[in-house]
Amino acid sequence: MTAWNDRFAERMAHVRASEIRELLKLLDQPDILSFAGGIPDPAMFPAERIQALYGEVLAESGAQALQYSVSEGLPALRRWIAERMTAAGAPCDEGNIVITAGSQQALDLIGKLFLDRGDVVVAERPTYMGALGAFNAYEPAYADLDGEIPAGARLAYLVPDFANPTGRTLTRRERERLLDRAQAHDLVLVEDGAYRELRFAGPEEPSLLALDVARSGSIESARSLFCGTFSKTLSPALRLGWVCGPRAVIDKLVLLKQGCDLHVSTVNQMVAARVVAEGYDLHLERLRAHYRNRSGAMQAALARHMPMGVTWTKPQGGMFVWVELPEGFDGAALLQAALAEERVAFVPGAPFFATDPRPNTLRLSYSLLGPDDIDEGVRRLGRLIGGRVACGGSNVARVAAVRA
Ligand SMILES: Cc1ncc(COP(=O)(O)O)c(C=O)c1O
Repeated sequence: MTAWNDRFAERMAHVRASEIRELLKLLDQPDILSFAGGIPDPAMFPAERIQALYGEVLAESGAQALQYSVSEGLPALRRWIAERMTAAGAPCDEGNIVITAGSQQALDLIGKLFLDRGDVVVAERPTYMGALGAFNAYEPAYADLDGEIPAGARLAYLVPDFANPTGRTLTRRERERLLDRAQAHDLVLVEDGAYRELRFAGPEEPSLLALDVARSGSIESARSLFCGTFSKTLSPALRLGWVCGPRAVIDKLVLLKQGCDLHVSTVNQMVAARVVAEGYDLHLERLRAHYRNRSGAMQAALARHMPMGVTWTKPQGGMFVWVELPEGFDGAALLQAALAEERVAFVPGAPFFATDPRPNTLRLSYSLLGPDDIDEGVRRLGRLIGGRVACGGSNVARVAAVRA
């Protein structure tokens, strides 16, 4: 029998399965109310239009739709994205866009392009677990975006709008300050805009890329790369995302994309180009109303059912609420108990930290449950946490003592 573990590349030491993902596989049971899956509500997929457009595209241009195509992506789709980025304050053209297999691939290609072993990635605490997964294969070290930025840091990664996992949005001042710091430390700024189109409250803030272009005069002299996706607005199964940035960077990403998977599915790009051309903004309005309603239900339920000492964020968009429990709670242990005792699920917060995890945190997603289920799920969770706060004062203290 081959000892495979001795044969893998050194970088594989940094690539690990998430225990949480393993646990979440158990959640496909109908009686579990799950706040765990951070995925779009399938009821909002424009499924009928997509079905019709596959038919149209294959009937009208089947030979093209089923053929190989260019690595940078379909020109019509790149033009549409460039126009939208331009309208949102980052003037650019299709040469500034590469289409990727979701924004997840964008993160991987960016890691491949910029990171050598030991390079420092500066990230929020907590941050998107999937970004850490993408970067880890390039063996970086991590530093906290809110702390001292070490000399030699290469790249800052963040989700400025309705972040996964916290639901937090950067204010205008925080955005400007971030650009100041990126400039001072000469960092590449990777802006993950995965949820940006899902704002349901508060005034829109400019993207970091738009602010950067306003400062530097042109996208070609910007230091920011905007990663976008159609996963949260159309369908994640299309696997369509993009990077918008200076041509010098886009050209290199295209080369890497070529070596990786040649290009994103031609037919999917053709269908997406048609879907977005026919009333994308109207579709976004419906999506925003939908998630506004669910977020409202979540906030009301948390206020109603959570015991004293528990705090949570109030998102202006996206799909997530971040919950902080009293010190001594452990999210992973709480999940085990939540599944066994209350049939309710969430994602423990610890894996979202690149370093020094804070175990007394959880991520709740309100994207998949209706308002009544949200209320019932939070009621169960509140009962579980409240029981532990009340009778387990000693329990909490014991965990804290063990950790200390
Ligand atoms: C912040 C963030 N970035 C990127 C992604 C990747 O999404 P996709 O590759 O489907 O665009 C996700 C998915 O959950 C996400 O939450």
